[in-house]
Amino acid sequence: MSVAQLTFEGKTIELPVIVGTENEKAIDISTLRDATGLVTMDLGYKNTGATKSAVTFLDGELGILRYRGYPIEELAEKSNFIEVAYLLIYGELPTKAQFDEFTEQIKMHTLVNEDIKKILDGFPATAHPMGVLSSLVCSLTAFYPESVENPTPDNINLNIFRLLAKMPTFVGWAYKKSMGHPVNYPMNRYDYCQNFLHMMFALPVEDFHPDPIVVDALNKLLILHADHEQNCSASTVRMVGSSKASLYSSISAGINALWGPLHGGANQEVIEMLDEIRLMGIDPKDYLEKVKRKEVRLMGFGHRVYKNFDPRAKIIKKACDKILSQLGVNDPILEIAKGLEEAALTDEYFISRKLYPNVDFYSGIIYRALGIPTNMFTVMFALGRLPGWIAQWKELNASKEPIGRPRQIYTGATARDFVSITER
Ligand code: CMC
Repeated sequence: MSVAQLTFEGKTIELPVIVGTENEKAIDISTLRDATGLVTMDLGYKNTGATKSAVTFLDGELGILRYRGYPIEELAEKSNFIEVAYLLIYGELPTKAQFDEFTEQIKMHTLVNEDIKKILDGFPATAHPMGVLSSLVCSLTAFYPESVENPTPDNINLNIFRLLAKMPTFVGWAYKKSMGHPVNYPMNRYDYCQNFLHMMFALPVEDFHPDPIVVDALNKLLILHADHEQNCSASTVRMVGSSKASLYSSISAGINALWGPLHGGANQEVIEMLDEIRLMGIDPKDYLEKVKRKEVRLMGFGHRVYKNFDPRAKIIKKACDKILSQLGVNDPILEIAKGLEEAALTDEYFISRKLYPNVDFYSGIIYRALGIPTNMFTVMFALGRLPGWIAQWKELNASKEPIGRPRQIYTGATARDFVSITER
C-alpha cells in the first residue's frame, strides 16, 4: 500500500493512499486530526472523496460515464429505464425472470393512498411541482411507518418498490394539479414510461394512446439521468441517510437539493434563457458577452467534474435532432442552442475554463417537444434520478459508514460576556 507523508510543525505522519478499481487515488485522512490536531478545508468538496462507491464511475477529463461498469452510451441505446434501475439498485443486469419479477413488484404498488390526494389538494395550483413532489414523497413515511420504525432488508426492498411505483403517480398528479385537471390513476397494463405518460396526459374526455416515439425518448432521457455518483443531491441523500433517516425522507431531501438552479433546476433555466434570447431577438454572441461580464451564467454549461464534453449531453444533442424530426416539431430554440454552443466552444472564456454543454443544455428541448411544460423539467430529472438515489442510499445503508458530520474552522466572535438587553 502506498502512503502520503504530511509534515506539520516538525512532525511527519504517514497517511495511507486508497486506490479504486479505476486507479483513482485518495489520501485517507481519518487519523489526521488525532495525529496532528488538523482538519482539512475543501469548500464545495472539490477535492474530497466522501465515500467509496461501486455504483457509478465517471471520468470528467475523458468524458466517461458508466453505471456499474456499463457505458452510458450502450445503456441509452440498448436498455430501458426499469432495467437500468434494477442494475443501479442491485448491481447487476437482471435475468429475464428477475426483470419480470421486478416489473410486477413495481406494478403492484402503483396505486397511491387516497389520503395523499388530500395532501395534494392542500397545495395551491401555482405550487412548484418540485415542492409538491418532495412533500408527497416525504408523506410516505406517515403511510408506511415501518420504513422509519423497522427498516429490515425486506422492508427496505418493499419501500424501494413503492417509491419507484408511486413516483410517476406523484409527478403526474403534481402536473394535473397545476393544470386544474382531475388526476389520473395508474394503468398497470402499461409499462413504466407508458403509464407515466398516461398519468401526465390522459384526459377523461378522450382516449389516450402513448406514442412509441415519446416512450422511447423518455426511456432514453430517464436512463441518462439515472445516476451521477456523488453530486449535490446524491450526497444529500447519503448524508440524510447516514443519520439512519428513512429511505423516503432521504429521497425527499435529495429532491429538494436537486431543485436548485445550479443542479437539476438548470434544465428549466436553460429553456427560459433560450426563450428570452428568442423573444428579445438577442444575438447569441451578445448573450455570451453578458455571460463573460458575469451578469448571467450560461445555463446548461459547465460542470464540477466534466472538464470535457459531458457524454450525456453528446447523446442528448444527437437524440434531439432525431426526436424533433420524428415528432415533426420545429422548435426555433434548438437552432439558438446550437448557435450558443458553437460560439461558446470557440470563445477563450469558455475554452480556458473548460466549460462544455452539460446534460441540461439540450434535455429541455426534448422535454418541450414531448409536451412537458418547462416547470416540470426538474421533476423529470428527479423521476430519472430516483434509481440512482435509491442505489446510493442502499449502498450507504448497508455500509458501516458513520453519520456524516463535517468539522469547521470557527471564524466568529471569541468568548465574551452576556450584556442584558437594557444595556445594549
Ligand atoms: N457560465 C459562465 N461561467 C461559468 C459557468 C457558466 N455556466 N460555469 C462556470 N463558470 C465560470 C465561473 O464563473 C468561474 O469563473 P472564474 O474562474 O472567472 O471565477 C469558473 O467558470 C469556474 O466556475 P465554478 O462556479 O467555480 O465551477 P463549479 O465547479 O463550482 O460549478 C456548475 C459547476 C455546474 C455549478 C457551474 O458550471 C454552473 O453554474 N453552471 C450553470 C448551471 C448548470 O448548468 N448546472 C447544471 C449542472 S449539470 C446537471 C447536474 O448534475 O446538476
